[in-house]
Amino acid sequence: MTDTEPASFSAEEYFATQPPPPTLDHDINGVREFVARQAQEGRKVVLVTVRRSSKFINIRGGLIKRTQRAEALLCRWSSMWTRGATSAEYFLKAGYAVIFMHRQFSLQPFSRHYSHSTNPFLDFLEIEPSTDGTSSPPRICVTHEMRQDLLEVLTAYKSVHAAETLHTMTFVTVNDYLWLLRAVTQELSLLGKKSMYYLAAAVSDFFLPRQKMSEHKIQSGKGSLHIEMDQVPKILKPMVTEWTKGEGFIVSFKLETDGDLLIPKARAALDRYGHQVVIGNDLHRRKFEVVFVSRKLLPPLPPDAEPEPVPEQDLEDPVSTTFVETWIRIPVPSSNPVTNQVKEIEEGIITELVKRHDRWIDEAR
Ligand code: PMT
Repeated sequence: MTDTEPASFSAEEYFATQPPPPTLDHDINGVREFVARQAQEGRKVVLVTVRRSSKFINIRGGLIKRTQRAEALLCRWSSMWTRGATSAEYFLKAGYAVIFMHRQFSLQPFSRHYSHSTNPFLDFLEIEPSTDGTSSPPRICVTHEMRQDLLEVLTAYKSVHAAETLHTMTFVTVNDYLWLLRAVTQELSLLGKKSMYYLAAAVSDFFLPRQKMSEHKIQSGKGSLHIEMDQVPKILKPMVTEWTKGEGFIVSFKLETDGDLLIPKARAALDRYGHQVVIGNDLHRRKFEVVFVSRKLLPPLPPDAEPEPVPEQDLEDPVSTTFVETWIRIPVPSSNPVTNQVKEIEEGIITELVKRHDRWIDEAR
């Protein structure tokens, strides 16, 4: 492996040195048509990103060279990666058109209810032999208990299909993700304030630039393998200021395993990137508790008004005069399958976001 590239890229350097995925133009034509149709119909459009960051470097998978076989576990936590698919359904229900940009094999809206590992679809089907004595083929039926559940999901799915309000895009590597994100954002930004960006993807922090990839099979038998990866550029800043020109409603996420870090880290992200909302979630509590962190909106003062004095406790903690936190909670899911609630925290998240996005659009009028 050569060592000729910078170890830390700005977004600009990244796009100048890393090759675009070969299907980029084709994918973006699809997005362009989708956005134009939604604009004609006056819909708000949200981009939902979904990506599990690599806990593993799977060298066999071709990260370095296809012929290598090794796998390294990089971090200890894991996730079901349901947030994006679940949120997309609630956005669709709220009348948004959704661009669902997901990593290959992630859970998808609607089909997520019947994931083969947690709720295998085939288990809900029964074969009914023909009873009329003819040779007509047996019928396939849905079990009685599942009928209502499936009917609801199928009805929502069919109506979204008929309205053509869901556009799905797949990517594999972090390079595909970054190129697609920039290009989709630039298309969607044509809708101005009617566009929302819901960045639920966990993005890898490190990657191997094309220029550092080995030309040939890396020889084993020489002891341990040392890989130096470069930092993935932070793209929120250019996304806010250049790609959306400050017009998009941008929601990022902050995931922590130490709950005490959530709010300070979320505030720091808002300060650094200048977007609208950071949704903080603790890894172990994310299914029933999240916090919205945003900047306090101060009502405009009439021209002759005296500014209000800052409350005393805010003087001690100057940061709290700038930021506001809103917690969204649902009851902790029960482990008893009979009383198990079916409420999903994403419903509350999307309700709150729709309210805030509408306010943001109204303020522009
Ligand atoms: O589906 P679940 O199992 O319920 O899990 C949901 C979730 C925990 C994955 C989700 O709620 C979440 O928190 N996603 C972001 C997790 C994360 O690790 O983010 P980050 O620290 O890599 O990035 C911070 C934010 O910047 C994210 O919104 C990310 O999408 C965005 N980002 C970061 C870097 C980059 N190059 N591009 C980005 O868009």
